[in-house]
Amino acid sequence: MCGIVGYMGDQQAYPILINGLHRLEYRGYDSAGVALLNGHGLHVHKCQGKVSDLEKHVEGRDLGGTVGMGHTRWATHGPPNDINAHPHVSSSGDIALIHNGIIENYAAIKEELAHRGHLFRSDTDTEVLVQLIDDIRRSEGVDLPEAVRLALNSVVGAYAIVVLDQRDPNLMVAARKSSPLVIGIGEHGDHFIASDATPIVEHTKNVVYLEDGEIAVIERGKGLKIRNIKNQDKTPFIQELEMHLEALEKGGYDHFMLKEIHEQPRSIRDSMRGRLNLVKGEVVLGGIKDHEEKFVKAKRILIVGCGTSWHAGLVGEYLLEDLARISVEVEYASEFRYRDPIVDEDDIVIAISQSGETADTLAAIELAKGRGATIIGICNVVGSSIARVTHAGSYTHAGPEIGVASTKAFTAQVTVLTLMALMIGQKRGTITGSRFFRLLNELDAVPEKVEKVLRNEAQIRYIADIYKDATNALYLGRGFSFPVALEGALKLKEISYVHAEGYPAAEMKHGPIALIDEEMPVFVIATKGGSYEKVVSNIQEVKARKGKVIAICTEGDTVVRDLADHVIEIPDAPDPLVPLLSVIPLQLISYHIAVMRGCNVDQPRNLAKSVTVE
Ligand code: M6R
Repeated sequence: MCGIVGYMGDQQAYPILINGLHRLEYRGYDSAGVALLNGHGLHVHKCQGKVSDLEKHVEGRDLGGTVGMGHTRWATHGPPNDINAHPHVSSSGDIALIHNGIIENYAAIKEELAHRGHLFRSDTDTEVLVQLIDDIRRSEGVDLPEAVRLALNSVVGAYAIVVLDQRDPNLMVAARKSSPLVIGIGEHGDHFIASDATPIVEHTKNVVYLEDGEIAVIERGKGLKIRNIKNQDKTPFIQELEMHLEALEKGGYDHFMLKEIHEQPRSIRDSMRGRLNLVKGEVVLGGIKDHEEKFVKAKRILIVGCGTSWHAGLVGEYLLEDLARISVEVEYASEFRYRDPIVDEDDIVIAISQSGETADTLAAIELAKGRGATIIGICNVVGSSIARVTHAGSYTHAGPEIGVASTKAFTAQVTVLTLMALMIGQKRGTITGSRFFRLLNELDAVPEKVEKVLRNEAQIRYIADIYKDATNALYLGRGFSFPVALEGALKLKEISYVHAEGYPAAEMKHGPIALIDEEMPVFVIATKGGSYEKVVSNIQEVKARKGKVIAICTEGDTVVRDLADHVIEIPDAPDPLVPLLSVIPLQLISYHIAVMRGCNVDQPRNLAKSVTVE
């Protein structure tokens, strides 16, 4: 949550910062601001609203300067307004700071500083930190990096910060703990700072991922130095980015979400590439090779994640239990971390996260790691915090996901989990050779089948038009399709603000059936295989109460076609692979309903892509 960006070099900072803020806007979009340093001191411009509102706000103002920083906010402390927007400036007017994270002990520090005469203007925890740094710098007579270091030793919480002081216009200081920060090193001595690499990639491919507890000091003409908050020097580890600029553009689509839905044939294929070998008849997940033995002997696997990643984890449970016959528990990371779970060194914990930065998932990992479990990550963002703290893992190769609603990340996660379950199942001998080879071939065919589902978009848009004014919706599925029902409901509610619930189809008669009337659209995943007949009975139950049924069914299924109000057909596939196909129409229907309702699809209200606060 919150995106931060910084620049020092020979170019004008403002255009670089604004461009960077546009790239990071998915992280939060309730207010934005920039601070620029030029020969005339510090200039801060900020306002409530999106980055485009900031651009209007600064029209006609002095935007010169080759050093600066920018922020796009997702409010935690204090409502979104001009005053609470970042950057925050110390009462002396000398120091400005931007922050992503939460300072948990801000109230105690604020009280202390108020006694010492500091005046506070905002409701934020961040302002406390900038005042503290200024106070230390003055009272202890230390330079800016040291004042930042001492201040960070007094705070509890999570932060990624950038700090500027108008008395040192050639210095930029940044630090992180539990919130991400990347530093780009340009060819001509320019330095870029950002919450992730997306604002940096068009300037340089050379980056340093700051570690927890590290402070970066960038000085004009002298480059980057890193120390930690214990004052030990660290050698910057420069890595090359593999990201491509085109992946960050809409590429002709109206929204990132639509582009990302349509990218799924490619992203699923990329997540299998080099891992699924049809000729040799094997699955190789290089990232977890060293832990294969542990998987083979495992008695239990725990899966942790949040939101859509948790839904992918639920599909993982069905996959691992079916194919590898290992008992699996899927946990909301936020619950797991606070309930003293039973975990030990025999356990394998799979942590799933698109961003690799979700605070609750990170905390769940730390807890399980502390108890000796082996932690395997399934992340999309290369070099992210979760990817770095896990013992091993397999990246999903979905490419950058910018739309706040997760789409291609889900199918990429499920693809990796399918490969994992197949690989472990084969090694454990819990899957017959013929089933293994059939699933391998069927999995290889999934991208083509997804393309086919995407070709039904016109029909899906037609159905969306019929139900766009609904105020509630139910999503039902059984077995492998139950997590997809949850995911379909989440997609609809988060981008179109229509109340939606996902249920195992058989649970409907234990309560939700009371909601059904002629106004209620019920999306039912009723594909052949598994509990097909039972789901057909559930459809009949809905119809008997005049509910409107939109069924996702297998191509050519006339039984469901005769019962349902609308059907969206998907190609036939074995049960474990159905989620990769059945979720696509649900993503599209949510997208089109949201567009028809005039919602901001890529930046839904109150949300942010990367949830780095608990
Ligand atoms: O980056 P992560 O996968 O860890 O994020 C988890 C959730 O915040 C995320 O899936 C969220 O639920 C999405 N908005 C769903 O579309």
